[in-house]
Amino acid sequence: MMYRGGVRLFSTLTARTASTEAAARILAGQTNRHLSTFLVRAPILGSRNRSTLALGGEKEQQREENVQTTGAAAAGGSGNKDEKRIVSYWGVEAPKVNKDDGSEWKWNCFRPWEAYEADLSIDLKKHHAPTTFSDKMALWTVKSLRWPTDLFFQRRYGCRAMMLETVAAVPGMVGGMLLHCKSLRRFEHSGGWIKALLEEAENERMHLMTFMEVAKPKWYERALVFAVQGVFFNAYFLGYLISPKFAHRMVGYLEEEAIHSYTEFLKELDKGNIENVPAPAIATDYWRLPPNSTLKDVVLVVRADEAHHRDVNHFASDIHYQGRQLRESPAPLGYH
Ligand SMILES: [Fe+2]
Ligand SMILES: [Fe+2]
Repeated sequence: MMYRGGVRLFSTLTARTASTEAAARILAGQTNRHLSTFLVRAPILGSRNRSTLALGGEKEQQREENVQTTGAAAAGGSGNKDEKRIVSYWGVEAPKVNKDDGSEWKWNCFRPWEAYEADLSIDLKKHHAPTTFSDKMALWTVKSLRWPTDLFFQRRYGCRAMMLETVAAVPGMVGGMLLHCKSLRRFEHSGGWIKALLEEAENERMHLMTFMEVAKPKWYERALVFAVQGVFFNAYFLGYLISPKFAHRMVGYLEEEAIHSYTEFLKELDKGNIENVPAPAIATDYWRLPPNSTLKDVVLVVRADEAHHRDVNHFASDIHYQGRQLRESPAPLGYH
């Protein structure tokens, strides 16, 4: 008993010391990296220390503490006093960060250093003219998908954008995952392409998080997303295994269609058929938009993102067309 007790005391102390040092290192790293633009506040060490002591024989008390509410932030945003926060002794609380104006950064789904200003000067009219049978097939596949999409959504562009982003965020994740597995299997570098494709998936998901704020999905639209994701994920997974050249080309054409859709969206906004509401807060923070931005500004930056995805995917397909592997050409990381 003495021995076990001794071990537990030693482990507990070690864990506390190590986690405190780790937290200090994390804090120091974050502070060095972001002090110039953002204020970073320390994780709540007090609550962790208290929980660590609970390991010494106050398990019931710890259980109660672990579910206690302390207000403050949770999943997507903050400020709701009803939201619960989990108290833990593991020392992995995210440091609090503030915006330039001193207000609290309220998004846990992305941090200030992931926000960026979109490059609106990108050429929106670039098009890859299909020459090979594979390219023509890719273009035909995308064009054939547009017909039912037009029929279903017609001119409800907000809803259309939201629904299409649920599909657009899939290829980057699937491609990134398959390249990740390939890198592990073959003991080789990826040339940054895993990260580039995962960045694309994350960017597309942020488009979805944005359009969710202006168009709430109905139950049958949620059901449709469920079904389409089941089919599209598996189809793209197989397609990418068989021919990444075709898969990237098809996404390139999908992005060309997305540019077209967002251009139509902008026309409807200009005509006044869609109300140009204030930009959602998540969008002004993610794209670093001015505070008085509107939905039109959001659609402009999203369309620019789609043009970047178009370039990345056509480029990836071109690499394969030249008989090379993606890793042989550095990936355009951070290409927004
Ligand atoms: Fe998108
Ligand atoms: Fe896209």
